[in-house]
Amino acid sequence: MKDFAVELAKEAGQVLMDHLKRRLAVKSKSSEIDLVTEADVASEKFIVEAIHDRYPEHGILSEEGLGQEQAGEFLWLVDPLDGTTNYAHGYPVFCVSIALQREGEIVLGVTYDPVQDELFHAEKGQGAYCNGRRLSVSGVASLRRSLLATGFFYTRAFIEDNNLAEFGRIMPRVQGVRRGGSAALDTAYVAAGRLDGYWEFHLSPWDWAAGDLLVRQAGGRISDVSGQRWRLRSNSMVATNGPLHGELLAALKG
Ligand code: IPD
Ligand code: CA
Ligand code: CA
Repeated sequence: MKDFAVELAKEAGQVLMDHLKRRLAVKSKSSEIDLVTEADVASEKFIVEAIHDRYPEHGILSEEGLGQEQAGEFLWLVDPLDGTTNYAHGYPVFCVSIALQREGEIVLGVTYDPVQDELFHAEKGQGAYCNGRRLSVSGVASLRRSLLATGFFYTRAFIEDNNLAEFGRIMPRVQGVRRGGSAALDTAYVAAGRLDGYWEFHLSPWDWAAGDLLVRQAGGRISDVSGQRWRLRSNSMVATNGPLHGELLAALKG
């Protein structure tokens, strides 16, 4: 299933690259700033059909709703294009992210960045890799020396817990906070040691599932913002290299 998922993510990445060259129809979803392009749908259609053909008994939870979440041992979690706002503007930071859950546990995570041609994958108990090279989180042990990433959900204009207070507290205390616009790549970068930590609120299972396994298999730590065990339906995620986890949680709390 790993080889299948890797091939699938790569081919879906090619679908995204092909569409990038065309003039795209862009629509909005939950609000004016929550976009969906033809490429999101084309990539998802491609992934969902391939999973369905190969594993008809598996469930699929996919962002644009083309998959079917059926009861059973296996559930695929699919973000066909993570970083849609970037993509729609031609800002070259986006990816395809696919994870597989078996009996409620994430056992496989694949995130493919077609711009950099970087394939991140992790299998339960097998480590995390980028283009076949084993990944390990960074050793940075204080916020002062850290480079972090975060994101702001589409409903940020309408909700109180929109992450701006947390962002304001953390930013003066670290070397930098990036807002790359792709949660799946942010978490892959924590696994790769390019970022020392990441936090965000209100995302969906497909945004975080592959990243959860990548970070843990690279030796990092995941929780929600209150320090509780992170679950697929948690409404926040904190992903770090481990040594930084306690200090970041405390800083987020204020
Ligand atoms: C978005 C990205 C972004 C995060 C947003 C997500 P999408 O996913 O992961 O980094 O901050 O909140 O919704 O919509 O591009 O798949
Ligand atoms: Ca996403
Ligand atoms: Ca998406």
